[in-house]
Amino acid sequence: MTLALKNPYLAALEWQIAQGADEGIADAPVDRTLTPVLTIADDVPSMSSPKPRVVSKSADVSIADLGGTAQAVLEATKLAASCQTLEELSAAIAAFDGLSIKKTASNMVFSDGHPCARVMVVGEAPGADEDRMGKPFVGVSGQLLDKILASIDLSRTDDTPEKAVYISNILNWRPPGNRTPSPQEVEISLPFIERHIALVKPQYLILSGGVAAKALLRSGESISKLRGRFHDFTPATDGIAQAGFVIPSIPTYHPSYLLRTPSQKKAVWMDMLMLLEKLK
Ligand code: URA
Repeated sequence: MTLALKNPYLAALEWQIAQGADEGIADAPVDRTLTPVLTIADDVPSMSSPKPRVVSKSADVSIADLGGTAQAVLEATKLAASCQTLEELSAAIAAFDGLSIKKTASNMVFSDGHPCARVMVVGEAPGADEDRMGKPFVGVSGQLLDKILASIDLSRTDDTPEKAVYISNILNWRPPGNRTPSPQEVEISLPFIERHIALVKPQYLILSGGVAAKALLRSGESISKLRGRFHDFTPATDGIAQAGFVIPSIPTYHPSYLLRTPSQKKAVWMDMLMLLEKLK
């Protein structure tokens, strides 16, 4: 009997992909084990032998990497509040270095659809297809989203505001390996998406999935509890919040959840019928 041994390089590659390292981020590999380590206070005598503090030598460590989420939120808030147009907002997000996922993404994903649409959809974050194309919801879950929208006569390609849809995400960059965005990444991104919504001023919002619903409604409730009724969305970020700015919002299950759990399609259908009632 012959034993088929697996090519060790192929096995290592498969392991990396399973861990989420599925994109090359530089032309040449870097051997991190050779990176010199800087230790602080080598010359300070100590009682015990503390672990040396390791300081990265990389010159462009982002604010978020340094644990300064609050500082990154502050910077994002200032930037977002200063944007008066969607073009300015897109340029501000592209220039913002407070999110390290920007470094591993191939493209920024800002929006798709008609900016004058009555309905705006907000999803979670770009996946691999969106990252490649630079547009939200273009992969399999996007195809299902398009079908869901078509069921109530809405389309991202329609050029009349009544039937058109505008689409964006909480995050504008793909988290590596399609992992769920961290709470810090969501917090840092919130000023940008709140400004985005405030500039588009849709009449209704569809919050697609738990990440978008919980973040924009500032709620700790699960999507199964939030869906099935309208909630008021009001931007909470300083400089973006405006008195009387309220958008009725319907949270619903994310299409990628529906692909895994088709039995919940009925719930989304009910949510869309509620929106259709309002649109009439
Ligand atoms: N899932 C999302 O939440 N957004 C996208 O753009 C694609 C997949």
